[in-house]
Amino acid sequence: MTAPADHHLDAYWMPFTANRQFKKAPRLFTKASGMHFWTDEGRQVLDGVAGLWCVNAGHARPRIVQAIAEQAAELDYAPPFQMAHPKAFALAQKVAALAPTGMGKVFFTNSGSESVDTALKMALAYHRVRGEGHRTRLIGRERGYHGVNFGGISVGGMVANRKMFGAMLAGVDHLRHTHDPARNAFSVGQPAHGAELADDLERLVALHDASTIAAVIVEPIAGSTGVLIPPVGYLQRLREICDRHGILLIFDEVITGFGRTGAPFAAQTYGVTPDIITCAKGLTNGCVPMGGVIVKDSIHDTFMQGPEHLIEFFHGYTYSAHPLACAAGLATLETYAEEGLLTRARELEGYFAEALHSMRDLPHVIDIRNTGLVGGIELSPRAGAPTQRAFDVFLACYEAGVLIRTTGDTIALSPPLIIERAQIDQIVGTLADAIRRVA
Ligand SMILES: Cc1ncc(COP(=O)(O)O)c(C=O)c1O
Repeated sequence: MTAPADHHLDAYWMPFTANRQFKKAPRLFTKASGMHFWTDEGRQVLDGVAGLWCVNAGHARPRIVQAIAEQAAELDYAPPFQMAHPKAFALAQKVAALAPTGMGKVFFTNSGSESVDTALKMALAYHRVRGEGHRTRLIGRERGYHGVNFGGISVGGMVANRKMFGAMLAGVDHLRHTHDPARNAFSVGQPAHGAELADDLERLVALHDASTIAAVIVEPIAGSTGVLIPPVGYLQRLREICDRHGILLIFDEVITGFGRTGAPFAAQTYGVTPDIITCAKGLTNGCVPMGGVIVKDSIHDTFMQGPEHLIEFFHGYTYSAHPLACAAGLATLETYAEEGLLTRARELEGYFAEALHSMRDLPHVIDIRNTGLVGGIELSPRAGAPTQRAFDVFLACYEAGVLIRTTGDTIALSPPLIIERAQIDQIVGTLADAIRRVA
């Protein structure tokens, strides 16, 4: 048993955190602005991960702060069932305008996890409404992350997030993941090899029959498992196979949405239009919790049958389209548009890639992956102690004034889209130094 160093930290059970270790040496932020956090000791820390892949326009942006404050005073809450408020419609329209053509309907949630479970339910209900209720199977992918609710962990493929939680949803299967370091290590941008891994869906169709499969869900870039970029042609091939068999394709764009890859959505960067997109995070610049599910008009319209006084989709949350979230979302999208942030990652991609790949000869570095303003640096695990080497690098960077993130032994970078070149240099300089110093 280890006693916490400080009693007032006792009550808070922290998410995805080594609680006992953390409470012995807490790391607390008390202020943020632009590209920086400040710790409770007053130390400035450069944000290399946009908080948690969400603060795409940087912290405490005045327009967003003001919009939230004004909204709280004007209309703090409005019930979302059989009632609404104007900003919900305005935000849905703006989000739909950014989405690929034909994806014109938006359902609001409060998180990425809720967006995923909403999308999976929509897919099942869609097939049922059109008389194919036998399509009940959901297909995810190994190493996928789709949040932490039961639908999301069922289609997800990260073992630590699944193994404690029983049988989860029935009727789920998984595609193979696309990570292939033997052929693709140190690829700049999309790896060349692996499009054929999409054919794994044909294997599952042969095993289960297409008539039992409702949808396939993948992250265009698998983020939480350690930044896996889709091989050239892979997403196109997945789209073709789904079309061939009447299977819906869901892109989980919770981290790739809102400019991370150099376009509003990764669907546009890779030129592949799914049937449903899940989003969250950058939708409100992380300021107020909110998620969204963006749907093809044709899917939405399929639900709009039967007597008009009946509810078409029995699903929703008390805080769907919360007024504060909608106000934050509208101000966020205005900020993105005004500053060209949704395409800025494309402009910085080359510089960012060069900076990242300058680390390839450092000790322990076994792969570097990048696209847009996303980077992954994979370290070899310390013998008998996986994850610890990367975590030591995380602590060293934090002490040196840069916030990075680690998952397993991969370091993930996803800075706010307002980052300047000198700040990219600072992140990579600090990181390289930390990697050189760890054992
Ligand atoms: C692809 C993806 N889906 C879903 C989620 C879950 O989002 P949330 O933590 O808002 O529930 C995440 C979170 O990182 C994610 O990366």
